[in-house]
Amino acid sequence: MRVCIRNVGKTYRARGRELGALEDISLDVAENEFLTILGPSGCGKSTLLLLIGRLEPPSGGTIDFEGERHSGGPLTTMVWQKYALFPWRTVLQNVAFGREVRGMAKKPRLEHARGLIDAVGLKGFEDSYPHELSGGMQQRVALARALANDPEVLLMDEPLAALDAQTRAVMQIELLRIWDQYRKTVVYVTHSIEEAVLLGDRIVVMSARPGRIREIIPVMLPRPRTLDMIVTQEFHAIADHAWTAIKSEVIAYA
Ligand SMILES: Nc1ncnc2c1ncn2[C@@H]1O[C@H](COP(=O)(O)OP(=O)(O)OP(=O)(O)O)[C@@H](O)[C@H]1O
Ligand SMILES: [Mg+2]
Repeated sequence: MRVCIRNVGKTYRARGRELGALEDISLDVAENEFLTILGPSGCGKSTLLLLIGRLEPPSGGTIDFEGERHSGGPLTTMVWQKYALFPWRTVLQNVAFGREVRGMAKKPRLEHARGLIDAVGLKGFEDSYPHELSGGMQQRVALARALANDPEVLLMDEPLAALDAQTRAVMQIELLRIWDQYRKTVVYVTHSIEEAVLLGDRIVVMSARPGRIREIIPVMLPRPRTLDMIVTQEFHAIADHAWTAIKSEVIAYA
């Protein structure tokens, strides 16, 4: 499905103070698009995901989902930086959770979960508990659990930010491989310009708070993307462009 965001604003009211987090955001996320969002800290990136996920109401404007539904799942599912797995459940039980809540029969539910665990490269770890896994493995579980929900749109808030550089690089490519297989519409927030270029079809660069859209940069790199692309001139040109757009905002904020 497409996500149509029109003139959306968000003002938080806390302890008698008003804080403008987002201002006049209009944006369409296309069906199956991988959209990345870059912006200085505090510019409202997480807020925008919360609004799209209907976890917070906008103060103004509208967010609609248009087009045909492909799944019986929810419109959106969020993947957080902190994996938020259930520590008392095994990998298999974590991944099967969404379908359990939706009342699906045990056998097909577990079969489906096993397929996803396989897809994210965790075959053999079905009966492990989250604390027995590395950070990268836990994020794989979180991804499988989100996919098991079968949402129309995956919302990802710096999902790889807690990982070390090598694990992160591996996970970026893994994520693209899995996305290619499941073809979801993805809205992906990151602080890393390199990651935004490597993953995205387009990069939304936001201004400092209150967050507005400063620029939308198309990423014309072919798919499948590979880590080798990072050293190419085309990649550098896009990353430079994004850095130029974001530089003044980061400095404005600092
Ligand atoms: N529940 C809330 N109540 C009041 N203010 C909030 C709330 N959530 C966020 N804010 C404020 O709104 C602004 C935007 O926050 P948000 O978390 O969306 O930014 P962000 O771009 O995701 O930042 P970061 O890059 O650091 O994760 C910040 O100034 C923050 O303090
Ligand atoms: Mg955030």
